[in-house]
Amino acid sequence: MKKVRWGILGAGGIADRRTLPGMLLSENTEIYAVMEIKMDMAEALREKYNATKAYDNEDDLLADPNVDAVYIASPVNCHERQARKAADAGKHILIEKPISLNAKTSEEICHYAEGKGVKIAVGFMMRYATYHQEMKKLIAEGKIGKIVSCRASFTCWYPEIPGAWRQTKAYAGGGSMTDLGIHCLDLLEYITGSRIEKVGALAENQVFSYEVEDGCTALFRLDNGAFGTVDAYFNIPDDAARCRIEIYGTKGSIRAEGSIGQVDGGDVTVTLSDPGDYDPMQEHVRVDSYQMEGAGLNMYEREVSSFNESILTGKPIEAPAMDAVHIQRVIESVYQSAEDGKFLSL
Ligand SMILES: NC(=O)c1ccc[n+]([C@@H]2O[C@H](COP(=O)([O-])OP(=O)(O)OC[C@H]3O[C@@H](n4cnc5c(N)ncnc54)[C@H](O)[C@@H]3O)[C@@H](O)[C@H]2O)c1
Repeated sequence: MKKVRWGILGAGGIADRRTLPGMLLSENTEIYAVMEIKMDMAEALREKYNATKAYDNEDDLLADPNVDAVYIASPVNCHERQARKAADAGKHILIEKPISLNAKTSEEICHYAEGKGVKIAVGFMMRYATYHQEMKKLIAEGKIGKIVSCRASFTCWYPEIPGAWRQTKAYAGGGSMTDLGIHCLDLLEYITGSRIEKVGALAENQVFSYEVEDGCTALFRLDNGAFGTVDAYFNIPDDAARCRIEIYGTKGSIRAEGSIGQVDGGDVTVTLSDPGDYDPMQEHVRVDSYQMEGAGLNMYEREVSSFNESILTGKPIEAPAMDAVHIQRVIESVYQSAEDGKFLSL
C-alpha cells in the first residue's frame, strides 16, 4: 500500500499522547520525521515511534524532501508561521485546532495553502468517533425527525499553571470555548449537517485568574431551525464532569455521555418515538430505545488515514480546515456577544 510520509512539528504534546500512537495503527502512514524544540526530546520520540529522522527545528524538517505531509501540533501561536512555511515547502498539512490565533489569519492560511497546491485539514478528530458518525447517519436518514434542540458540553479542571501557553491570549487566542468548546460547536454542526447562524453567550473568569475565560456557555440557532447550547469550562473537576451530547427531534432523541473526548466510546441511547396524539398523562409509553454499540476504534488513526486517502486519491477531505475557520468565527461572535450582551448573526 502506498504510504504518506509524515513529519511532526511539536511531537511531544498531543502528538505523543494520542496522534502518533494512532498513526502507528494507520496502514497508509509512515512516521518519517519528528521535530521537538530540544534534540534529546526529538531523539527520544524518534526512537519511540521508530521514525527515520529527528529534528530540533522546523526549517530542517520542512527542507527534508522525504516528508510528504506535516502534522502541526505545536502551541497555537506557532501554527501560522509553520503552516505558511509548510505550504511553501509543498507539504500537505494536518493542523491542530484552532488553526491560528484568529479567524481572519486562519482563513488566510487556508487560502495560502490552496495557492501553493497543498491540502489542509484540521484536527477535528472527534468527527471520526464511531458514535458521532452513527449519530450523523441517523439524523441524515430522518430517523430523529426535524431537529429542534441540541446541546454539548466539554469541561476539564485546569487551574493556574505558571508558564502554561493555553492560559494566555497571545499563545492560545482564547480560553475554554477556544480550546474545548470548539469541538462541541463543530460536532453539533457536523452531526446535524447544519450551520450556526446566530449566537448569544456568557464568558467569564469564574474561578481562575488567568487571562483567558475559564467558563463559557453559548446559545445559538442552527440554519435548520434548531436551537442549541454549548458549555465549555476549565473549572469543573474531571471526576465531576459529564461530557455530553443531546439531540432532540420530532421523532426521537440521541443522548450521549462520554463520546466527547479522546477515546472512541461512551454511552449513547437512541430513542425513536412515534409521537402520536397529545398525551395529557405524559406516560411515555410509545418509546423504543436502544444503546449504540461498536465503538473502541481509534479516532486519531481514522483522522490520519482519511487525510492520507485525500492526499493519495483525491477523496474529499473529511475535516477541511475551512470548516474550522467558520467555527472560529462562531467563537469570535461568542466572545463579542459575551462582551456586548447581544445576540449576533454570522
Ligand atoms: N485534537 C486533540 O485531541 C488535541 C488535544 C490537545 C491539544 N490539541 C491541540 O494541539 C496543539 C498542541 O497542544 P498540546 O496540548 O499538545 O500542547 P503541549 O504544550 O502539551 O505540547 C506542545 C508541544 O509543542 C512543542 N513546541 C513548543 N514550541 C514549539 C515550536 N516552536 N515548534 C514546534 N514544537 C514546539 C512543545 O515542546 C510541546 O512538546 C494545540 O493546537 C491544541 O489545541 C489537540
